Amino acid sequence: MSSSVRVCLVGAGRVARVHANSLVNHVPPAQLVALVDPDPRAREEAGEQFGIEKRFAALEEALESVAFDAVVITTPTFTHKQLAVTAANAGKHILLEKPMALNLAECDAIIAAAEANGVILQLGFMRRFDPEFVAAAQRIEAGEIGQPMLIKSLTHGPGLPPAWARDLKTSNGMLAEVNSHDWDCVRWLMGSDYQRVYVEVANFKGKARGVDTEHFYDNALVNIRFENGGLGSISGVCPCDYGYDARVEIVGEKGIMQIGELKGQAVVVCTNRDQGLITPIYRTWPQRFEWGYIREMEHFVDCILKGARPKVGGQEGRWAVAGVLAATRSFLEERPVYLREILG
Ligand SMILES: NC(=O)c1ccc[n+]([C@@H]2O[C@H](COP(=O)([O-])OP(=O)(O)OC[C@H]3O[C@@H](n4cnc5c(N)ncnc54)[C@H](O)[C@@H]3O)[C@@H](O)[C@H]2O)c1
Repeated sequence: MSSSVRVCLVGAGRVARVHANSLVNHVPPAQLVALVDPDPRAREEAGEQFGIEKRFAALEEALESVAFDAVVITTPTFTHKQLAVTAANAGKHILLEKPMALNLAECDAIIAAAEANGVILQLGFMRRFDPEFVAAAQRIEAGEIGQPMLIKSLTHGPGLPPAWARDLKTSNGMLAEVNSHDWDCVRWLMGSDYQRVYVEVANFKGKARGVDTEHFYDNALVNIRFENGGLGSISGVCPCDYGYDARVEIVGEKGIMQIGELKGQAVVVCTNRDQGLITPIYRTWPQRFEWGYIREMEHFVDCILKGARPKVGGQEGRWAVAGVLAATRSFLEERPVYLREILG
């Protein structure tokens, strides 16, 4: 059995740098051997920062020139299917960023290509590896709060995402770009699939920030009914300006559990009685989920070395996409939408 995993990083944007940091500094069996991005500036900057000498404008070029075992795909959503299928057909294991793809047909093509080629497909749901989320899931599983009845999950992101990520056509909008993690976590922690969703959206800041994309929204509130009778909500705000905020509350038959808090650091300071207590908040998602990103990469590399199935894969990615598609139809058609309308 090989003791190292050679990785090609596909995409050199925001989240690529988080994964490059994990690969280079935290996961010793991994070797970051190649970088792919059609944008020369992004490619050179990330290449220099992480000491990746082999840089290419397209995945096909990297496949021809460098030997590697796995890809980490960190590109815009509308490119995921083509890149993941190409990687699978070349026999490369895949860590694919969320949202898995634009629609269910694309998700199915990725899952089928991974299965046909016997490669690992892990989805970039790093909250599944965040120590707080993991501890909460274990305690729910152990029955500490009884059967979950109601789950509320929020993600409020600080800055406007890149232009492609604001457009329904290239990303499925904020409910996909920002809230994919909530879709995955509410389903995971409730232990049941979504049955029906109803969504309201609003646009408060888009005009002032020069966003004129059709159907753009910067606030979203989702109501969910689960197959097991449980209820849920997801709230999304982006840009929210005050920092990065990700919290979950689960009410069970016997108790309540909260994951995360608005306060981002344990150190609380008071130096001036007019200003009061200063309790810093997380500023960014790489800061809040630092250990989630590292642990998810450790898990990916470990699964490759052991030939094991990842804890979070194509089916989880597909369910999150299905939730987003139902939610988008709900706000566009101003009505509750059953998942069976999406799943067929
Ligand atoms: N897990 C998380 O917490 C998290 C956080 C942010 C983004 N993401 C996801 O990661 C993906 C990328 O998001 P981002 O914010 O880093 O985007 P970004 O726009 O900052 O970077 C994307 C990069 O991909 C490059 N690219 C485009 N097409 C390509 C191709 N065919 N081959 C190689 N490179 C290509 C672009 O030139 C760009 O440099 C999205 O799916 C996004 O939803 C996940």
